[in-house]
Amino acid sequence: MTDPVIETDRALVARSVSKSFGAVHALQHVDFRVRPGTVHALVGENGAGKSTLAKILAGIESSDTGGMTIDGVAYAPRDRAEGKARGVNMVPQQLSLVGELSLVENLLLAGPRRIVRRAAALRTRTATLERSGGSVDLDAPTATLSQAHRQLGEIVVALAEGATTIILDEPTASLGPVEVGGLFAHLRALCDIGTAIVLITHRLDEVRAVADDVTVLSHGRLVHHGPARGLSAADVALLMVGELPDPAPRAERHRGDAVLSIESVTAASDTDAALTDVTLALHAGEIVGVAGVAGSGQNTLLDVLAGMRSPASGTVTFDGRTAPTAADLLRGGVAWIPEERSDALVPTMTLGDTLALYSAARGERRRTGDTDAAAQLRAFDVRPPTPALAAGGLSGGNQQKLLVSRELGRTWPGTPTGAPRVVLAYGPTQGLDLRAAQAIRERLVAAAESGAAVLVASHDLEEIRDLADRVVVLFSGRVVADLTADEATTSRVGAAMAGIDARDEETT
Ligand SMILES: Nc1ncnc2c1ncn2[C@@H]1O[C@H](COP(=O)(O)OP(=O)(O)OP(=O)(O)O)[C@@H](O)[C@H]1O
Ligand SMILES: [Mg+2]
Repeated sequence: MTDPVIETDRALVARSVSKSFGAVHALQHVDFRVRPGTVHALVGENGAGKSTLAKILAGIESSDTGGMTIDGVAYAPRDRAEGKARGVNMVPQQLSLVGELSLVENLLLAGPRRIVRRAAALRTRTATLERSGGSVDLDAPTATLSQAHRQLGEIVVALAEGATTIILDEPTASLGPVEVGGLFAHLRALCDIGTAIVLITHRLDEVRAVADDVTVLSHGRLVHHGPARGLSAADVALLMVGELPDPAPRAERHRGDAVLSIESVTAASDTDAALTDVTLALHAGEIVGVAGVAGSGQNTLLDVLAGMRSPASGTVTFDGRTAPTAADLLRGGVAWIPEERSDALVPTMTLGDTLALYSAARGERRRTGDTDAAAQLRAFDVRPPTPALAAGGLSGGNQQKLLVSRELGRTWPGTPTGAPRVVLAYGPTQGLDLRAAQAIRERLVAAAESGAAVLVASHDLEEIRDLADRVVVLFSGRVVADLTADEATTSRVGAAMAGIDARDEETT
Protein backbone atom coordinates (compact mmCIF):
# COMPACT_ATOMS: atom_id res chain seq x y z
CA MET A 1 0.00 0.00 0.00
CA THR A 2 1.37 3.45 -0.88
CA ASP A 3 1.30 6.13 1.74
CA PRO A 4 -0.64 9.01 0.18
CA VAL A 5 1.64 11.54 1.86
CA ILE A 6 4.84 10.08 0.45
CA GLU A 7 3.62 9.50 -3.11
CA THR A 8 4.92 12.27 -5.38
CA ASP A 9 3.11 13.25 -8.50
CA ARG A 10 2.54 16.98 -9.04
CA ALA A 11 2.31 18.18 -5.49
CA LEU A 12 3.83 20.24 -2.72
CA VAL A 13 5.08 17.74 -0.18
CA ALA A 14 6.57 18.25 3.29
CA ARG A 15 8.19 15.34 5.06
CA SER A 16 8.83 14.96 8.76
CA VAL A 17 8.92 18.70 9.39
CA SER A 18 9.77 19.82 12.94
CA LYS A 19 9.94 23.30 14.42
CA SER A 20 10.48 24.54 17.97
CA PHE A 21 10.27 28.00 19.49
CA GLY A 22 12.42 27.72 22.60
CA ALA A 23 10.82 25.00 24.70
CA VAL A 24 7.65 24.91 22.58
CA HIS A 25 7.51 22.10 20.02
CA ALA A 26 5.26 23.78 17.48
CA LEU A 27 5.63 20.92 14.97
CA GLN A 28 6.98 17.41 15.43
CA HIS A 29 7.69 15.20 12.40
CA VAL A 30 4.70 16.40 10.43
CA ASP A 31 4.05 15.06 6.90
CA PHE A 32 1.88 17.08 4.55
CA ARG A 33 0.96 16.92 0.88
CA VAL A 34 -1.29 19.17 -1.17
CA ARG A 35 -2.33 18.18 -4.70
CA PRO A 36 -2.93 20.67 -7.57
CA GLY A 37 -6.56 21.47 -8.25
CA THR A 38 -7.72 20.57 -4.75
CA VAL A 39 -8.64 22.32 -1.51
CA HIS A 40 -6.78 20.86 1.45
CA ALA A 41 -8.21 21.78 4.84
CA LEU A 42 -5.65 22.15 7.62
CA VAL A 43 -7.40 22.01 10.97
CA GLY A 44 -6.76 21.57 14.70
CA GLU A 45 -7.19 23.37 17.98
CA ASN A 46 -5.67 26.76 18.79
CA GLY A 47 -1.90 26.46 19.00
CA ALA A 48 -1.83 23.11 17.17
CA GLY A 49 0.83 24.37 14.74
CA LYS A 50 -1.26 25.20 11.65
CA SER A 51 0.11 28.69 11.01
CA THR A 52 3.63 27.48 11.71
CA LEU A 53 3.31 24.72 9.11
CA ALA A 54 1.77 27.17 6.64
CA LYS A 55 4.64 29.62 7.12
CA ILE A 56 7.18 26.87 6.56
CA LEU A 57 5.43 25.81 3.34
CA ALA A 58 5.51 29.45 2.17
CA GLY A 59 9.15 30.05 3.15
CA ILE A 60 8.26 32.61 5.83
CA GLU A 61 9.69 30.37 8.56
CA SER A 62 12.27 27.63 8.13
CA SER A 63 11.87 24.21 9.66
CA ASP A 64 14.43 22.84 12.14
CA THR A 65 14.42 19.43 10.48
CA GLY A 66 12.62 17.71 7.63
CA GLY A 67 12.36 18.66 3.96
CA MET A 68 10.01 19.66 1.18
CA THR A 69 9.60 19.00 -2.55
CA ILE A 70 7.48 20.47 -5.33
CA ASP A 71 6.64 18.04 -8.13
CA GLY A 72 9.41 15.82 -6.81
CA VAL A 73 12.07 18.56 -6.95
CA ALA A 74 13.72 19.74 -3.72
CA TYR A 75 12.15 22.91 -2.31
CA ALA A 76 13.97 24.74 0.47
CA PRO A 77 12.87 28.39 0.38
CA ARG A 78 15.04 30.68 2.50
CA ASP A 79 12.40 33.39 2.58
CA ARG A 80 8.97 34.29 1.33
CA ALA A 81 10.30 35.58 -1.98
CA GLU A 82 11.89 32.20 -2.75
CA GLY A 83 8.60 30.52 -1.90
CA LYS A 84 6.77 32.84 -4.27
CA ALA A 85 9.34 32.21 -6.99
CA ARG A 86 8.40 28.53 -6.79
CA GLY A 87 4.70 29.38 -6.90
CA VAL A 88 3.82 29.06 -3.21
CA ASN A 89 2.10 32.04 -1.63
CA MET A 90 0.39 32.57 1.68
CA VAL A 91 -2.36 34.96 2.72
CA PRO A 92 -1.52 35.36 6.42
CA GLN A 93 -3.87 35.22 9.40
CA GLN A 94 -3.36 38.96 9.88
CA LEU A 95 -3.84 40.58 6.51
CA SER A 96 -0.72 42.02 4.94
CA LEU A 97 -1.96 44.48 2.35
CA VAL A 98 -1.00 48.07 3.02
CA GLY A 99 -4.29 49.71 3.94
CA GLU A 100 -3.86 53.11 2.31
CA LEU A 101 -2.73 51.67 -0.99
CA SER A 102 -5.07 50.41 -3.66
CA LEU A 103 -4.85 46.81 -4.80
CA VAL A 104 -3.02 47.92 -7.93
CA GLU A 105 -0.47 49.79 -5.85
CA ASN A 106 -0.11 46.81 -3.55
CA LEU A 107 0.60 44.61 -6.52
CA LEU A 108 3.23 47.06 -7.69
CA LEU A 109 4.74 46.94 -4.24
CA ALA A 110 4.70 43.17 -4.24
CA GLY A 111 5.68 42.83 -7.90
CA PRO A 112 8.66 40.64 -8.66
CA ARG A 113 10.07 43.10 -11.21
CA ARG A 114 11.13 46.47 -9.95
CA ILE A 115 9.55 48.53 -12.66
CA VAL A 116 6.04 47.40 -13.48
CA ARG A 117 3.82 49.71 -15.43
CA ARG A 118 0.62 50.51 -13.63
CA ALA A 119 -1.45 49.69 -16.71
CA ALA A 120 0.18 46.31 -16.97
CA ALA A 121 -0.47 45.70 -13.30
CA LEU A 122 -4.08 46.59 -13.74
CA ARG A 123 -4.41 44.25 -16.70
CA THR A 124 -2.83 41.32 -14.90
CA ARG A 125 -5.01 41.89 -11.90
CA THR A 126 -8.20 42.28 -13.89
CA ALA A 127 -7.43 39.23 -16.00
CA THR A 128 -6.70 37.19 -12.89
CA LEU A 129 -9.89 38.31 -11.27
CA GLU A 130 -11.94 37.52 -14.31
CA ARG A 131 -10.27 34.16 -14.55
CA SER A 132 -11.39 33.41 -11.01
CA GLY A 133 -14.79 34.97 -11.61
CA GLY A 134 -14.64 37.85 -9.14
CA SER A 135 -14.82 41.60 -9.07
CA VAL A 136 -13.06 43.92 -6.66
CA ASP A 137 -12.56 47.67 -6.92
CA LEU A 138 -8.93 47.78 -7.94
CA ASP A 139 -8.39 51.48 -7.34
CA ALA A 140 -9.99 51.88 -3.92
CA PRO A 141 -7.58 52.05 -0.94
CA THR A 142 -7.64 48.52 0.50
CA ALA A 143 -8.51 49.83 3.98
CA THR A 144 -11.86 50.94 2.63
CA LEU A 145 -12.64 47.52 1.19
CA SER A 146 -14.69 45.01 3.16
CA GLN A 147 -12.79 42.14 4.80
CA ALA A 148 -14.13 39.79 2.12
CA HIS A 149 -12.86 41.99 -0.67
CA ARG A 150 -9.52 42.43 1.05
CA GLN A 151 -9.24 38.66 1.30
CA LEU A 152 -10.09 38.36 -2.37
CA GLY A 153 -7.62 41.12 -3.10
CA GLU A 154 -4.88 39.22 -1.27
CA ILE A 155 -5.70 36.14 -3.29
CA VAL A 156 -5.65 38.11 -6.52
CA VAL A 157 -2.26 39.59 -5.62
CA ALA A 158 -1.00 36.07 -4.97
CA LEU A 159 -2.34 34.82 -8.29
CA ALA A 160 -0.94 37.75 -10.21
CA GLU A 161 2.43 36.86 -8.74
CA GLY A 162 2.09 33.46 -10.34
CA ALA A 163 1.04 31.37 -7.36
CA THR A 164 0.18 27.76 -8.07
CA THR A 165 -0.27 26.94 -4.39
CA ILE A 166 -2.18 29.42 -2.23
CA ILE A 167 -2.27 29.05 1.53
CA LEU A 168 -5.13 30.85 3.28
CA ASP A 169 -4.77 31.16 7.04
CA GLU A 170 -8.29 31.51 8.45
CA PRO A 171 -9.62 33.67 5.62
CA THR A 172 -13.17 33.32 6.88
CA ALA A 173 -12.66 34.04 10.60
CA SER A 174 -14.35 37.42 10.31
CA LEU A 175 -16.58 36.85 7.30
CA GLY A 176 -20.32 36.30 7.17
CA PRO A 177 -22.06 33.46 5.33
CA VAL A 178 -22.66 35.42 2.11
CA GLU A 179 -19.03 36.50 1.86
CA VAL A 180 -17.82 33.01 2.71
CA GLY A 181 -20.02 31.63 -0.07
CA GLY A 182 -18.49 34.09 -2.51
CA LEU A 183 -14.96 33.31 -1.42
CA PHE A 184 -15.54 29.57 -1.76
CA ALA A 185 -16.95 29.97 -5.24
CA HIS A 186 -13.66 31.65 -6.12
CA LEU A 187 -11.63 28.92 -4.49
CA ARG A 188 -13.42 26.28 -6.56
CA ALA A 189 -12.83 28.34 -9.72
CA LEU A 190 -9.14 28.49 -8.81
CA CYS A 191 -9.05 24.73 -8.35
CA ASP A 192 -10.53 24.33 -11.80
CA ILE A 193 -7.51 26.10 -13.27
CA GLY A 194 -5.21 23.76 -11.32
CA THR A 195 -4.37 25.90 -8.29
CA ALA A 196 -3.71 24.02 -5.07
CA ILE A 197 -5.30 25.58 -2.01
CA VAL A 198 -4.47 25.04 1.63
CA LEU A 199 -7.32 26.32 3.77
CA ILE A 200 -6.85 26.77 7.52
CA THR A 201 -10.18 27.05 9.29
CA HIS A 202 -11.98 26.36 12.57
CA ARG A 203 -15.38 26.09 10.94
CA LEU A 204 -16.29 22.50 10.40
CA ASP A 205 -19.10 23.26 7.95
CA GLU A 206 -16.44 24.78 5.70
CA VAL A 207 -14.32 21.68 5.81
CA ARG A 208 -17.33 19.71 4.70
CA ALA A 209 -18.42 22.23 2.08
CA VAL A 210 -15.19 22.89 0.27
CA ALA A 211 -12.34 20.52 1.18
CA ASP A 212 -11.14 17.56 -0.85
CA ASP A 213 -8.55 16.48 1.70
CA VAL A 214 -8.15 17.07 5.42
CA THR A 215 -5.07 17.17 7.63
CA VAL A 216 -5.54 17.45 11.38
CA LEU A 217 -2.81 18.66 13.73
CA SER A 218 -2.89 18.31 17.48
CA HIS A 219 -0.17 19.63 19.78
CA GLY A 220 2.23 19.90 16.85
CA ARG A 221 1.66 16.37 15.61
CA LEU A 222 -0.17 14.97 12.63
CA VAL A 223 -3.14 13.02 13.95
CA HIS A 224 -5.14 12.46 10.77
CA HIS A 225 -4.96 12.93 7.03
CA GLY A 226 -7.25 11.68 4.31
CA PRO A 227 -10.13 12.55 2.03
CA ALA A 228 -12.82 14.87 3.37
CA ARG A 229 -15.57 12.93 1.67
CA GLY A 230 -17.27 10.50 3.99
CA LEU A 231 -16.40 12.41 7.16
CA SER A 232 -19.50 13.43 9.12
CA ALA A 233 -19.68 16.77 10.91
CA ALA A 234 -19.22 14.89 14.17
CA ASP A 235 -16.12 13.10 12.81
CA VAL A 236 -14.54 16.39 11.80
CA ALA A 237 -15.38 18.05 15.13
CA LEU A 238 -13.95 15.11 17.02
CA LEU A 239 -10.77 15.26 14.93
CA MET A 240 -10.48 19.02 15.39
CA VAL A 241 -10.84 19.34 19.14
CA GLY A 242 -11.83 15.97 20.60
CA GLU A 243 -14.99 15.46 22.61
CA LEU A 244 -16.75 18.78 23.34
CA PRO A 245 -17.96 19.27 26.90
CA ASP A 246 -21.71 19.74 27.39
CA PRO A 247 -22.63 23.42 27.43
CA ALA A 248 -22.97 24.83 30.96
CA PRO A 249 -26.57 25.13 32.19
CA ARG A 250 -27.93 28.65 31.93
CA ALA A 251 -29.41 30.50 34.86
CA GLU A 252 -32.49 32.66 34.68
CA ARG A 253 -31.69 36.24 33.75
CA HIS A 254 -33.61 39.39 34.57
CA ARG A 255 -33.61 42.42 32.35
CA GLY A 256 -32.74 45.40 34.53
CA ASP A 257 -32.38 49.11 33.86
CA ALA A 258 -30.64 50.58 30.84
CA VAL A 259 -26.95 51.02 31.68
CA LEU A 260 -25.51 52.37 28.45
CA SER A 261 -27.65 53.86 25.73
CA ILE A 262 -27.46 56.01 22.65
CA GLU A 263 -30.23 58.10 21.19
CA SER A 264 -30.59 59.38 17.63
CA VAL A 265 -26.87 59.04 17.12
CA THR A 266 -25.26 59.98 13.86
CA ALA A 267 -21.53 59.32 13.61
CA ALA A 268 -19.02 59.17 10.77
CA SER A 269 -16.27 56.62 10.19
CA ASP A 270 -13.57 56.31 7.53
CA THR A 271 -13.43 52.52 7.57
CA ASP A 272 -17.03 51.50 8.21
CA ALA A 273 -20.54 52.72 7.45
CA ALA A 274 -21.54 55.94 9.21
CA LEU A 275 -24.31 55.59 11.79
CA THR A 276 -27.51 57.41 10.96
CA ASP A 277 -30.06 58.14 13.67
CA VAL A 278 -29.31 55.05 15.75
CA THR A 279 -31.11 54.53 19.04
CA LEU A 280 -30.15 51.58 21.22
CA ALA A 281 -30.28 50.81 24.94
CA LEU A 282 -28.23 48.14 26.64
CA HIS A 283 -29.94 46.81 29.77
CA ALA A 284 -28.40 45.03 32.73
CA GLY A 285 -28.72 41.27 32.45
CA GLU A 286 -29.57 41.29 28.76
CA ILE A 287 -27.56 40.13 25.76
CA VAL A 288 -28.19 42.17 22.63
CA GLY A 289 -26.98 40.58 19.41
CA VAL A 290 -26.00 42.91 16.60
CA ALA A 291 -26.27 41.28 13.19
CA GLY A 292 -25.31 42.75 9.84
CA VAL A 293 -23.03 42.06 6.91
CA ALA A 294 -19.47 43.31 7.40
CA GLY A 295 -19.19 47.07 7.12
CA SER A 296 -22.78 47.86 8.13
CA GLY A 297 -21.68 50.17 10.92
CA GLN A 298 -20.90 47.64 13.67
CA ASN A 299 -17.43 49.07 14.27
CA THR A 300 -18.74 52.63 14.34
CA LEU A 301 -21.42 51.55 16.82
CA LEU A 302 -18.94 49.88 19.14
CA ASP A 303 -16.56 52.83 18.87
CA VAL A 304 -19.32 55.24 19.89
CA LEU A 305 -20.48 53.01 22.76
CA ALA A 306 -16.92 52.58 24.03
CA GLY A 307 -16.30 56.32 23.86
CA MET A 308 -13.65 55.95 21.17
CA ARG A 309 -15.58 58.16 18.75
CA SER A 310 -17.83 61.12 19.51
CA PRO A 311 -21.07 61.26 17.58
CA ALA A 312 -21.77 64.21 15.27
CA SER A 313 -25.23 64.43 16.81
CA GLY A 314 -27.36 62.50 19.29
CA THR A 315 -26.65 61.54 22.89
CA VAL A 316 -24.75 58.79 24.68
CA THR A 317 -25.84 58.08 28.26
CA PHE A 318 -23.97 55.93 30.77
CA ASP A 319 -25.45 55.42 34.21
CA GLY A 320 -27.67 58.47 33.80
CA ARG A 321 -24.76 60.69 32.76
CA THR A 322 -24.66 62.06 29.22
CA ALA A 323 -21.60 62.29 26.98
CA PRO A 324 -19.27 60.10 29.05
CA THR A 325 -15.59 60.13 28.03
CA ALA A 326 -13.72 56.97 27.13
CA ALA A 327 -12.04 57.14 30.54
CA ASP A 328 -15.43 57.42 32.32
CA LEU A 329 -16.62 54.32 30.50
CA LEU A 330 -13.40 52.46 31.20
CA ARG A 331 -13.53 53.30 34.90
CA GLY A 332 -17.22 52.62 35.09
CA GLY A 333 -16.77 49.03 33.99
CA VAL A 334 -17.16 48.91 30.22
CA ALA A 335 -15.28 45.94 28.74
CA TRP A 336 -14.33 46.35 25.10
CA ILE A 337 -13.44 43.54 22.71
CA PRO A 338 -13.05 45.10 19.23
CA GLU A 339 -13.18 43.25 15.95
CA GLU A 340 -9.59 43.98 15.01
CA ARG A 341 -7.31 42.38 17.55
CA SER A 342 -4.52 44.70 16.48
CA ASP A 343 -6.60 47.63 17.80
CA ALA A 344 -6.41 46.22 21.31
CA LEU A 345 -3.21 44.17 21.62
CA VAL A 346 0.43 45.14 21.29
CA PRO A 347 2.46 42.19 19.94
CA THR A 348 5.69 43.15 21.73
CA MET A 349 4.01 43.58 25.12
CA THR A 350 4.17 40.65 27.53
CA LEU A 351 1.05 38.76 28.52
CA GLY A 352 1.38 40.05 32.08
CA ASP A 353 1.63 43.68 30.97
CA THR A 354 -1.23 43.16 28.53
CA LEU A 355 -3.49 42.04 31.37
CA ALA A 356 -2.42 45.05 33.44
CA LEU A 357 -2.68 47.50 30.54
CA TYR A 358 -5.71 49.44 31.68
CA SER A 359 -5.25 49.00 35.42
CA ALA A 360 -4.27 52.61 35.98
CA ALA A 361 -6.91 54.06 33.68
CA ARG A 362 -9.52 51.90 35.30
CA GLY A 363 -8.53 53.13 38.71
CA GLU A 364 -6.95 49.93 40.01
CA ARG A 365 -4.18 50.67 42.45
CA ARG A 366 -2.62 47.28 42.78
CA ARG A 367 -0.84 45.86 39.78
CA THR A 368 -1.62 42.26 39.06
CA GLY A 369 1.32 40.10 40.09
CA ASP A 370 2.69 37.30 37.92
CA THR A 371 0.95 34.61 39.98
CA ASP A 372 -2.41 36.29 39.52
CA ALA A 373 -1.68 36.87 35.87
CA ALA A 374 -0.77 33.22 35.33
CA ALA A 375 -3.97 32.14 37.09
CA GLN A 376 -6.04 34.46 34.94
CA LEU A 377 -4.37 33.20 31.76
CA ARG A 378 -5.01 29.61 32.81
CA ALA A 379 -8.64 30.36 33.60
CA PHE A 380 -9.10 31.48 29.99
CA ASP A 381 -6.99 28.62 28.65
CA VAL A 382 -4.39 30.92 27.10
CA ARG A 383 -1.58 28.64 25.97
CA PRO A 384 1.10 28.91 27.14
CA PRO A 385 -0.04 30.79 30.31
CA THR A 386 3.35 32.47 30.73
CA PRO A 387 3.11 36.14 31.86
CA ALA A 388 6.64 36.95 30.63
CA LEU A 389 5.93 35.84 27.04
CA ALA A 390 5.30 38.47 24.33
CA ALA A 391 1.74 38.52 23.02
CA GLY A 392 3.04 38.22 19.45
CA GLY A 393 4.43 34.76 20.25
CA LEU A 394 0.95 33.39 20.88
CA SER A 395 -1.01 31.64 18.15
CA GLY A 396 -3.86 33.68 16.64
CA GLY A 397 -6.57 32.02 18.70
CA ASN A 398 -4.59 32.36 21.90
CA GLN A 399 -4.17 36.09 21.25
CA GLN A 400 -7.94 36.30 21.03
CA LYS A 401 -8.27 34.41 24.35
CA LEU A 402 -5.75 36.85 25.86
CA LEU A 403 -7.82 39.84 24.76
CA VAL A 404 -11.03 38.33 26.10
CA SER A 405 -9.34 37.39 29.35
CA ARG A 406 -8.09 40.94 29.85
CA GLU A 407 -11.61 42.29 29.44
CA LEU A 408 -13.71 39.61 31.13
CA GLY A 409 -11.27 37.92 33.48
CA ARG A 410 -10.48 40.84 35.70
CA THR A 411 -12.15 42.07 38.84
CA TRP A 412 -13.57 45.47 37.94
CA PRO A 413 -12.81 47.87 40.79
CA GLY A 414 -15.57 50.33 39.97
CA THR A 415 -18.41 47.83 40.11
CA PRO A 416 -20.20 46.35 43.13
CA THR A 417 -19.71 42.69 42.21
CA GLY A 418 -16.39 43.07 40.43
CA ALA A 419 -18.09 41.99 37.19
CA PRO A 420 -18.11 44.36 34.21
CA ARG A 421 -21.22 46.54 33.95
CA VAL A 422 -21.18 46.51 30.17
CA VAL A 423 -19.52 44.18 27.69
CA LEU A 424 -19.06 45.36 24.10
CA ALA A 425 -17.81 42.52 21.93
CA TYR A 426 -17.41 42.27 18.17
CA GLY A 427 -16.61 38.77 16.91
CA PRO A 428 -15.49 37.59 20.37
CA THR A 429 -14.93 34.01 19.20
CA GLN A 430 -13.17 34.76 15.90
CA GLY A 431 -10.24 32.47 15.29
CA LEU A 432 -11.13 30.25 18.24
CA ASP A 433 -11.46 26.51 17.97
CA LEU A 434 -14.84 24.97 18.78
CA ARG A 435 -14.00 24.26 22.38
CA ALA A 436 -12.52 27.69 23.09
CA ALA A 437 -15.42 29.40 21.30
CA GLN A 438 -17.89 27.55 23.50
CA ALA A 439 -15.97 28.59 26.61
CA ILE A 440 -16.03 32.26 25.60
CA ARG A 441 -19.77 32.16 24.84
CA GLU A 442 -20.30 30.76 28.32
CA ARG A 443 -18.26 33.65 29.74
CA LEU A 444 -20.49 36.16 27.96
CA VAL A 445 -23.62 34.46 29.29
CA ALA A 446 -22.10 34.40 32.78
CA ALA A 447 -21.39 38.13 32.54
CA ALA A 448 -25.06 38.77 31.70
CA GLU A 449 -26.15 36.44 34.51
CA SER A 450 -24.14 38.51 36.93
CA GLY A 451 -25.89 41.64 35.72
CA ALA A 452 -23.77 43.01 32.90
CA ALA A 453 -25.38 44.62 29.87
CA VAL A 454 -23.86 42.66 26.99
CA LEU A 455 -23.64 43.53 23.31
CA VAL A 456 -22.34 40.90 20.91
CA ALA A 457 -21.84 41.81 17.26
CA SER A 458 -21.05 38.87 15.03
CA HIS A 459 -21.15 37.77 11.41
CA ASP A 460 -22.07 34.33 12.68
CA LEU A 461 -25.86 34.26 12.85
CA GLU A 462 -25.84 31.01 14.77
CA GLU A 463 -23.70 32.61 17.45
CA ILE A 464 -26.10 35.52 17.72
CA ARG A 465 -29.13 33.27 17.85
CA ASP A 466 -27.46 31.12 20.47
CA LEU A 467 -26.60 34.05 22.76
CA ALA A 468 -28.97 36.94 22.24
CA ASP A 469 -32.16 37.85 24.08
CA ARG A 470 -32.75 40.55 21.51
CA VAL A 471 -31.36 40.96 17.99
CA VAL A 472 -30.71 44.30 16.37
CA VAL A 473 -29.89 44.32 12.67
CA LEU A 474 -27.71 47.02 11.14
CA PHE A 475 -27.85 47.83 7.47
CA SER A 476 -25.90 50.72 5.96
CA GLY A 477 -25.46 52.29 9.38
CA ARG A 478 -29.13 52.18 10.36
CA VAL A 479 -31.03 49.89 12.69
CA VAL A 480 -33.42 48.12 10.33
CA ALA A 481 -34.78 45.54 12.77
CA ASP A 482 -35.05 45.11 16.54
CA LEU A 483 -36.35 41.63 17.27
CA THR A 484 -36.96 39.42 20.29
CA ALA A 485 -35.08 36.11 20.32
CA ASP A 486 -38.26 34.35 19.16
CA GLU A 487 -38.83 36.74 16.28
CA ALA A 488 -35.20 36.53 15.18
CA THR A 489 -35.52 33.64 12.77
CA THR A 490 -32.70 33.10 10.31
CA SER A 491 -34.87 34.19 7.40
CA ARG A 492 -36.09 37.34 9.12
CA VAL A 493 -32.62 38.40 10.27
CA GLY A 494 -31.16 37.42 6.90
CA ALA A 495 -33.69 39.57 5.06
CA ALA A 496 -32.98 42.54 7.33
CA MET A 497 -29.22 42.08 6.82
CA ALA A 498 -29.80 42.34 3.10
CA GLY A 499 -31.75 45.56 3.59
CA ILE A 500 -35.16 44.02 3.01
CA ASP A 501 -37.68 45.07 5.64
CA ALA A 502 -39.45 41.85 6.56
CA ARG A 503 -42.28 43.68 8.36
CA ASP A 504 -43.14 45.52 5.14
CA GLU A 505 -43.15 42.24 3.28
CA GLU A 506 -45.42 40.60 5.80
CA THR A 507 -47.95 43.41 5.92
CA THR A 508 -48.17 44.07 2.19
N1 LIG B 1 7.12 33.46 16.94
C1 LIG B 1 6.82 32.60 17.92
N2 LIG B 1 7.46 32.65 19.11
C2 LIG B 1 7.17 31.79 20.10
N3 LIG B 1 6.25 30.80 20.01
C3 LIG B 1 5.57 30.70 18.86
C4 LIG B 1 5.81 31.59 17.76
N4 LIG B 1 4.99 31.24 16.75
C5 LIG B 1 4.27 30.19 17.19
N5 LIG B 1 4.62 29.86 18.46
C6 LIG B 1 4.05 28.76 19.25
O1 LIG B 1 3.93 27.63 18.41
C7 LIG B 1 2.72 26.94 18.68
C8 LIG B 1 1.93 26.78 17.40
O2 LIG B 1 1.46 28.05 17.00
P1 LIG B 1 0.65 28.28 15.65
O3 LIG B 1 0.53 29.74 15.48
O4 LIG B 1 1.26 27.50 14.55
O5 LIG B 1 -0.77 27.64 16.03
P2 LIG B 1 -2.12 27.57 15.18
O6 LIG B 1 -2.45 26.13 14.98
O7 LIG B 1 -2.00 28.41 13.96
O8 LIG B 1 -3.20 28.17 16.21
P3 LIG B 1 -4.45 29.19 16.00
O9 LIG B 1 -5.62 28.35 15.61
O10 LIG B 1 -4.67 29.75 17.36
O11 LIG B 1 -4.06 30.21 14.99
C9 LIG B 1 2.02 27.74 19.77
O12 LIG B 1 2.28 27.12 21.01
C10 LIG B 1 2.64 29.09 19.70
O13 LIG B 1 2.61 29.73 20.96
MG1 LIG C 1 -2.89 30.22 13.41
